[in-house]
Amino acid sequence: MPVEQTQLLYRHRNVPGIDRLETYVAHGGYEQFRKAVAMDPEAIIEEVKVSGLRGRGGAGFPTHIKWNAFPKNRDVEHYFIINADEGEPGTAKDRDLMNALPHLLVEGCLCSMVAVRAAKCYIYIRGEYIEPWKSVQKAINEAYAAGFLGKNVLGSGLDFDIYTHLGAGAYECGEESALMSSLMGERGMPRLKPPAAPLPMISGVWKRPSVVNNVETAATIPAILELGGAKYAEIGVGSPRSRGTKLFSISGHVNKPGIYEIVLGTPFSEVLDIAGGVRDGHQLKTYIPGGSSMGFAPPTPLDYPFDYEGIPQNTQTLGLGSGGLMIFDETTDVFKVTHRLVDFYHHESCGKCTPCREGLDWLSKIYARIASGGGREQDIDLIWDICDSIRGKSFCALGEGAIWPVMTSLRLFRHEYLSYIHHGRNTYSEAGQLGA
Ligand SMILES: Cc1cc2nc3c(=O)[nH]c(=O)nc-3n(C[C@H](O)[C@H](O)[C@H](O)COP(=O)(O)O)c2cc1C
Ligand code: SF4
Repeated sequence: MPVEQTQLLYRHRNVPGIDRLETYVAHGGYEQFRKAVAMDPEAIIEEVKVSGLRGRGGAGFPTHIKWNAFPKNRDVEHYFIINADEGEPGTAKDRDLMNALPHLLVEGCLCSMVAVRAAKCYIYIRGEYIEPWKSVQKAINEAYAAGFLGKNVLGSGLDFDIYTHLGAGAYECGEESALMSSLMGERGMPRLKPPAAPLPMISGVWKRPSVVNNVETAATIPAILELGGAKYAEIGVGSPRSRGTKLFSISGHVNKPGIYEIVLGTPFSEVLDIAGGVRDGHQLKTYIPGGSSMGFAPPTPLDYPFDYEGIPQNTQTLGLGSGGLMIFDETTDVFKVTHRLVDFYHHESCGKCTPCREGLDWLSKIYARIASGGGREQDIDLIWDICDSIRGKSFCALGEGAIWPVMTSLRLFRHEYLSYIHHGRNTYSEAGQLGA
């Protein structure tokens, strides 16, 4: 029996005017914030813990652990920060959520602010996301006018302010410590991490307790408060550690690309069906399960639980990531796709550490040489060696993310590289061949 696709975040996604406060309120909007503001912050964190919610930004880190690390007092300002940078190729779910359901994000921020005892929230939005920024700013203005933001909100004695901040379109500014630097007006480069530096929950922006959460993570909090953590934790058909629903951006060679809310653990073949299946008359060649940093997976197996734990080890990919599922059929030139990704990461490398800065520069040049017909067989070993010198040695996860599509495409599609080296073109994708 197909998995019933419970809709929590997208329940009202298609209601006309749901981006306006009055429509949102008419559909139960801000009721969970009314509840939250009367709750003990610890009780909210406990509900989030019981729900099993894991951050939806890519790493899947349990949300309650971050929130619990906050000091329990209010004598210094605490900051709640939303990561709306969304630069990962293949991911567009936060854009859709901000465009269509901006009040859900504002309400999620408010509930989260109560939990971490923050009076101020910054929503850091990717520089190119002008429409989502306008949509969220309009919702914030409406929330101020309705008394959900401002001083002594709902007579609670608490003040809440939310500010939007537009980035300048740097992928690296989605890395949470670089985001915090950028927010403070510094260069968007990552900072030292514990144990070399304190946790951001102790000393983050302006040396105050701060936490960075993804748009979708915050937007999930009202659903958890409405259902209760235990009921939320019942949703999910795979691993006991992957609970609830998740937004997936499904793109590429499918009949119905789009953003879908899908129950975690739904078999991968069903996820494909939800997006209309591989486009008519074609076959699945490979896919990237969760944004380009996760790397390519082989077309089999298809029947496994699509969640944080379910992706089989032998697919070689890093996992579910941010939920950017990219589907490629037999016409795809995987070498070319990888080349494009290498150039993207090369362009986006912040240059702080040598393995990533120099390694990606080398990779970009080698891919260009192979693409132009000047490749040599030893280039394959050279690519592998460069990946080895980036892997585990770069300062932040961008370096690791950059080499994963390279290593997985080499493992699965080495023959396509050799075709470029020997014939100056990809005879496999030209012939519509799935594998070697
Ligand atoms: C290069 C890089 C880019 C990232 N971009 C994003 C992003 O656009 N949005 C996001 O939520 N997390 C991004 N992350 C992950 C964040 O560092 C952080 O883990 C996340 O915002 C935490 O939120 P969550 O706990 O709610 O998932 C990125 C990480 C790296 C290394
Ligand atoms: S791995 Fe190093 S150079 Fe690359 S983005 Fe991170 S800090 Fe910057």
